[in-house]
Amino acid sequence: MLNLIEKSERYVEETLASGLKQGIVFHDFRHASQVRKAALSLAFDARLSKKDSHLLEISALFHDIGYIGGSQDHELRGAGMAADFLESQGMSEDDVDRIVLLIRSTQMDSELLDPLAKYLRDADLSYLGREDFWERVDLFRTEIQSSSDQKISDREWWEFNLNFFLNHKYFSPEGRQRFDILKQKHQKMIEELLK
Ligand SMILES: [Fe+2]
Ligand SMILES: [Fe+2]
Repeated sequence: MLNLIEKSERYVEETLASGLKQGIVFHDFRHASQVRKAALSLAFDARLSKKDSHLLEISALFHDIGYIGGSQDHELRGAGMAADFLESQGMSEDDVDRIVLLIRSTQMDSELLDPLAKYLRDADLSYLGREDFWERVDLFRTEIQSSSDQKISDREWWEFNLNFFLNHKYFSPEGRQRFDILKQKHQKMIEELLK
């Protein structure tokens, strides 16, 4: 018998595989898996309880499932989809409510609506400070270009990214510890590209 994590994983993977529009090459199941993995490393570093790690892991898996309806308001849509699935699997109302708040907290300008939200937000943007940054940022560019039918010039792209880096800070000490060094290195390289 599959446990809840395995069932969630299967549900998210199948939903994204059949529901994502062509061209969504960043916010796919791979992103969900990478955010899940980063969230679990932060949970380990922060010595979170088994229960909290479990809630964080499930939230990470579901956090971008709302992309099947497009990027606009995907956090709200995704929170609803997660709630429906998890309720159908018998998860308690309190736990479902926390997962809803965690997923809603991944909206860029949202407040952190749960004490675990800082870990999910940091995991979501862990790619800025990971070894696979250049591959990920390229896929992100492809995704944006394909959904807006707009060609982004190299200069525009790296300016956008530099601006993003300058306005971003990891929320948790664990996130800074794990991802800041490479993030700063990537920022310097982007600055070089713009010279
Ligand atoms: Fe998202
Ligand atoms: Fe995400």
